[in-house]
Amino acid sequence: MSFEPINSPFRYAGGKFYARKLILQHIPMHTHYCEPFVGGGSIFFAKPKTYKNVLNDLDSELMNVYFMLRDNPEGLIDFLDGLPASKDLHRFYKNEFRPSNNLERAGRWYYLNRISYSGIMNMQNCYWGYGDKFSMRPENWPNNIRRTSQKLQGVKLSCKDFETVIDNVPDGTFLFIDPPYFNADQDKFYTCAFTKNDHIRLNNVLRRNNGRLSFLLTYDNSPEIRGLYDWATETHDKEWNYCISRTDDQKTKTDRKGERYKGRELFILNYESEATLLLMP
Ligand SMILES: C[S@@+](CC[C@H](N)C(=O)[O-])C[C@H]1O[C@@H](n2cnc3c(N)ncnc32)[C@H](O)[C@@H]1O
Repeated sequence: MSFEPINSPFRYAGGKFYARKLILQHIPMHTHYCEPFVGGGSIFFAKPKTYKNVLNDLDSELMNVYFMLRDNPEGLIDFLDGLPASKDLHRFYKNEFRPSNNLERAGRWYYLNRISYSGIMNMQNCYWGYGDKFSMRPENWPNNIRRTSQKLQGVKLSCKDFETVIDNVPDGTFLFIDPPYFNADQDKFYTCAFTKNDHIRLNNVLRRNNGRLSFLLTYDNSPEIRGLYDWATETHDKEWNYCISRTDDQKTKTDRKGERYKGRELFILNYESEATLLLMP
């Protein structure tokens, strides 16, 4: 088992970086771990790696980068070698560059992700958003890639719809589940649309696997979600602070210190957190 917590390799819209300590406090001991909506994977990277780990997301561009980080980190580092964080190159890689293989696809995605506002990778909303003071500098990208690659060794990666993944993980698996919000326009962030019907499918798949898996599900705090999950064992209202660095983005045109916000979500569990041996003290 690897106990080293690291940060997500990406900037990721809707990522759980600021809630990671709160989330880790609710995770029980487990040997099999799965994230069906991995995104930037803030929780996987923050927690100890366990015996079997599965990371999945329907976004094929994102998963291609995970494959490259795991299997060809040095290729990715070579692709990025010498590229400065520049507005002109951002425009070039976003609009003109045509990757001819998976390594170039991954290099383009990683480069844009590191220098775009809030890491938003839906190309319609992918704007320049890099600031020397607040963003990871290009000279630190190789270390970020190598330590991520180390943590991803032996991890199973897949690019499927969540329902197939949840139905097929082994009995006893613990799942951290972080779907797009129910009541927010998430389509501007992600490349895969998530409809009301998808939220209902998620509820159904979790209900039919309830006896054989444990899960911690995070959602926006809304009456609809409370109603959908009235069968869960525990529902907690949680709050945390976070800030967004407005790094030379398209709105302000200047470097400003981070703005403070409050995260408010539901943690929905199908196990008793009090009675469980927790992963973190
Ligand atoms: C809220 S984000 C996950 C953020 C992640 N927990 C983190 O810390 O960065 C939700 C993710 O669900 C993915 N997604 C959307 N529809 C999906 C589907 N049908 N099956 C699997 N993943 C999906 C999106 O691509 C997005 O990465």
